[in-house]
Amino acid sequence: MCGIVGYIGGQQAYPILIEGLSKLEYRGYDSAGVALLDDSGVEIIKSVGRLQNLEEKVGNEVPAGTMGIGHTRWATHGRPCDENAHPHSDCSGQYVVIHNGIIENYHALREWLTSVGHTFRSETDTEVLAHLVEHYFQGDLKQTVRQVLEKVTGSYGIVVMSERDPDRLICARKDSPLIIGLGDGENFIASDIPALLKYTRDTIILEDGELAEVTRDSVVVEGSDGKQLQKEIYHVKWDAVAAEKEGYDHFMLKEIHEQPKAIRDTLRGRLTEGGLVNLAELNLAEDQIWQLRKIVMVACGTAYHAGLVGKYVFENLLRLPVEVDVASEFRYRDPLLGEDTLVVVISQSGETADTLAAMRLARQKGSPVVAITNVVGSTVSREADRVLYTWAGPEIAVASTKAYTTQLVVLYLLALQLGQTAGIVAEEEIKNMTEALQNIPADVERILEQEESVKDFANHIKDWEHAFFIGRGLDYAVALEGSLKLKEISYIHAEAYAAGELKHGTLALITENIPIIALATQPALYEKMWSNIKEVKARDAYVFGIVTAGDDETEKEVDVIFAIPKTIPILSPILSVIPLQLISYHASVLRGCDVDKPRNLAKSVTVE
Ligand code: F6R
Repeated sequence: MCGIVGYIGGQQAYPILIEGLSKLEYRGYDSAGVALLDDSGVEIIKSVGRLQNLEEKVGNEVPAGTMGIGHTRWATHGRPCDENAHPHSDCSGQYVVIHNGIIENYHALREWLTSVGHTFRSETDTEVLAHLVEHYFQGDLKQTVRQVLEKVTGSYGIVVMSERDPDRLICARKDSPLIIGLGDGENFIASDIPALLKYTRDTIILEDGELAEVTRDSVVVEGSDGKQLQKEIYHVKWDAVAAEKEGYDHFMLKEIHEQPKAIRDTLRGRLTEGGLVNLAELNLAEDQIWQLRKIVMVACGTAYHAGLVGKYVFENLLRLPVEVDVASEFRYRDPLLGEDTLVVVISQSGETADTLAAMRLARQKGSPVVAITNVVGSTVSREADRVLYTWAGPEIAVASTKAYTTQLVVLYLLALQLGQTAGIVAEEEIKNMTEALQNIPADVERILEQEESVKDFANHIKDWEHAFFIGRGLDYAVALEGSLKLKEISYIHAEAYAAGELKHGTLALITENIPIIALATQPALYEKMWSNIKEVKARDAYVFGIVTAGDDETEKEVDVIFAIPKTIPILSPILSVIPLQLISYHASVLRGCDVDKPRNLAKSVTVE
């Protein structure tokens, strides 16, 4: 999520760090900072906002030092501000750390460190790392970092620097990328390849559990057992633009492929070892939940479609009525709100004007508001009563993909948490669902491996000006998202229908070869869906069926099939949307559209 750079060599470090960070700003842009080390010690400079703010703060007084670390932040723990910007240091300011990832047990560590005399300056999880380094340091920075990492759980790509053991940078990774760039009398560290390309193409890619000691003339990588490893040198062939997209042709494709990681990150730390849900941020007591008479979900576009899935899930698990509203309509219909109505607002950016207005109205009318958002420090996150983050990382492509699937994950967790706290959902059912949820990232990976097979259908669809998505129940909610995705990036007119509604009008539009995407993942509705598929096949439509692996019956009804791995049917939307994202993406590419920046659209809609 965040961007990391490190340099140690013979040149002035500051310009190299800034150049590297400028190539990583797309990874996070709510604050930036650098730490430089020279004979007089460590100097840290940081600033909220974009990198340019940091450069303006530094002005002409460029800090000295031929080694240093730099960071551009995408906030996770703690709002965007100077204090929460990286690098973070211990109380003495002698040990500095930059970090990408989430330290899950930071709360307990922070309490313990405070009790033994450490004073914290930021709200971040990262700061505990700097204090731990100070606490355990006995002269050898590498050994200290290894000791510290044994104490933490979570994910990290970190670089540590200290004036107490100068002339080396120590870096390590777990579930967060880190790459070492090899130079002549100098070496580099970065979270992503674009930051290195101006200086070197020879790199060492760290794997999970590995730790490296980087000096001006050497790089020593050790495995988790402390044994030295012989790492291969990887020569980067991408150009700078391709590197930003990690070799993918478009950000949208990169973000589609990032979904397994985004889902893992969103689940991380939110399930107990026993398979129950632990959404600590929610903090709603049993009696508060029992007081609820209704839940209202409010959002726009793709986030609204996530809310539609949420309705099915909440009503099914909690047996509470759920309304889902498009935020731009919500406040103009004088909605029935109050203390007994929980309002869930969903917004990737946390800045969508209509969603904000809906949230403010709900609060004004006394409804408790839970926000689901991807951006820490966003307006939605600041104003809601409670915030549940999706840990999808920055979404650059206008068309939302990983934000949607992680919103679904949070909605499942929220429904389960409410049901668990209030004793409405049986523990056995919760455990079954959390087990299946943990398998979802691997299921998504399996779907992505079949990407080639959607290309043929994208090739068929590309020549048409109209397409239809049909489904029932949860599949209908996903069909709506599929049709929005196709419209917005390929400019093919697409409509989603509850399959049973076709015969009430739309069937008149079904002609020979017209593309129909039929979702049939809900066993309870199979037979109904087969009848609807037969209705369109009788008019010679060309049907692409999205089914669950092992469903041979639906296969007989359609022209082409895409099978998603078997999961609990209620979870299938997280999987069935992936082929829809891929169809839209490939249709858009084949039609020569601007995939990442479709015409007339903006990533964040901050006007009504
Ligand atoms: C479609 C898309 C939009 C957004 C909508 C809400 O791919 O991205 O429909 O979902 O504009 O945006 P957020 O979630 O930022 O409130």
